[in-house]
Amino acid sequence: MYTGLTHTHVLMSALFLFALLLKTVFLLSGNDEMLERFKRKFKIPEIIVDSLMLLTGIYLAFSSGWTTHGSWFWIKMAAFLAAVPMSVIAFKKRNKAMALLSLLLLLYAYGISETKSPVFNKKAALVSDETPAVAEGDNLVEAGAAIFHLDCARCHGNDGRGGKSGAPNLRESKMTAEEVIARIRKGKNAMPGYEGYLDDKQIEALAAYIGSLRAQ
Ligand code: HEC
Repeated sequence: MYTGLTHTHVLMSALFLFALLLKTVFLLSGNDEMLERFKRKFKIPEIIVDSLMLLTGIYLAFSSGWTTHGSWFWIKMAAFLAAVPMSVIAFKKRNKAMALLSLLLLLYAYGISETKSPVFNKKAALVSDETPAVAEGDNLVEAGAAIFHLDCARCHGNDGRGGKSGAPNLRESKMTAEEVIARIRKGKNAMPGYEGYLDDKQIEALAAYIGSLRAQ
């Protein structure tokens, strides 16, 4: 359900941007006739796309809990909220500079969303720069604890007891080590997937640390 909504939101946002890109090209090239024709022809599809984008966006923003949103989310919201009225005015007044600026702001907002980082750094968003690598022969529980405190504790708490944004108490988790590893890789709902962000060794260390919490 949740990933379906996310996909719908991303798809609608892409369609919305594509339509805006076309309209901006018509406006910039002074092709008023094409602009009017496009607006007339795609009036209903545009209303559907825009409404679906907004509704899924609002639902997703609320359902994951405001406290879990990183700073990228707020910068994206600010860019979006500034660009939309700017775009409406730009097309009404046929103001080319304003239309271009709002398009760029919206493309920027889309880029932030895709990378979850204001400067489009894919890794910065989920894991700390200081997240240590895990080498052969390292103590997995200790290495896992270090990674956990840097990257997981903001939701699961320093001791794994959870609390924030619906993160469950990991000490009471009934999952096997394999299931824990799969959950860290793929994520679920508000739990982010770390595949591509943490390597196999780091994830294995985290699973060892979580297993050790349960034994306490
Ligand atoms: C943004 C908050 C957040 C972060 C960061 C986060 N988690 Fe989670 N985690 C959750 C939530 C929420 C759930 C419950 C997901 C569900 O089942 O709907 C969860 C579930 C889990 C579970 C499954 C527990 C169970 O028994 O259901 C494991 C294991 C887990 N997280 C490990 C981690 C690890 C390891 C990290 C760091 C690499 C981490 N999480 C980072 C929010 C977070």
